[in-house]
Amino acid sequence: MDISEALESAAKTLQTSGVAEAVREAKSLLAFALNSNQTFLIAHAEYELSVEEEKRFRDFITRRARREPFQYIVGKQEFYNLDFAVTPDVLIPRPETELIVAAAIEITKGNARFCEVGIGSGCISVSILHAVKTASAIGLDISEKALKVARENAETHLVAKRLELKSSDVFENLPAEKFDFIVSNPPYIPGEDVKNLQAEVRDYEPPAALTDGKDGLSIVRKIIADAPHFLKAGGFLLMEIGINQETKVREMFDEKNWREIKILPDLQNIPRTIKARIR
Ligand SMILES: C[S@@+](CC[C@H](N)C(=O)[O-])C[C@H]1O[C@@H](n2cnc3c(N)ncnc32)[C@H](O)[C@@H]1O
Repeated sequence: MDISEALESAAKTLQTSGVAEAVREAKSLLAFALNSNQTFLIAHAEYELSVEEEKRFRDFITRRARREPFQYIVGKQEFYNLDFAVTPDVLIPRPETELIVAAAIEITKGNARFCEVGIGSGCISVSILHAVKTASAIGLDISEKALKVARENAETHLVAKRLELKSSDVFENLPAEKFDFIVSNPPYIPGEDVKNLQAEVRDYEPPAALTDGKDGLSIVRKIIADAPHFLKAGGFLLMEIGINQETKVREMFDEKNWREIKILPDLQNIPRTIKARIR
């Protein structure tokens, strides 16, 4: 089987399975199976795949046709211009979450110290620490397996010495400390909405990274209620929220404790990141 035959048959298989960008993904997976790149595929359409290469490619296509996310097959996702290792133990970083990073970098001064609740792959904290070399952080997650992935990404991007990782249910195991800011992209999808998510997300991403199994707001509520204990005066909370949660989340901020409560829109103009300041 040569490259053009392999691509044609794989694209058909992916299309039949409901993968939207079947041709593009078939090309990317073939390049990955051959340890090569797209230019090689175009320039060598008649290249005959070895038995081993064909087997690797077929295996990737079978997995993708079962709707396993592309990123778990190739083991990485780009976020804020850095490559992050991803495994099925962590949420695949989403482009809208880059908004938290940009907002955090804007408020980071000097030796800023921050905390992240639900660090997952580490994409938020590692990107901030990579951009601001004087900052340091503590990353929390309820999943030990996610913390291992965060550690790996922190090491890859040379920020591990400035990032402490701790297993914790929200702030439970966090020693008393006041931070300059807190960041979080908590699991905010209501439990009953999970069944309607696309197969890649519903069947493969870690349930605890998607939902609290309740109304989607229980962890958001906990973070807003407890953050005042962990913020310096004038410190910020930057947190991603879900579609249609804006009004309910605004109401969770007690004006006695908080000021300058803003909701930043993402590139699709969806209210996405809450930015609030402690008094
Ligand atoms: C939406 S994912 C975000 C991961 C990563 N920060 C990102 O933005 O891609 C939520 C993360 O919160 C963690 N998590 C869920 N419940 C938690 C809890 N009660 N306390 C701490 N972390 C929790 C999950 O394990 C998951 O890694």
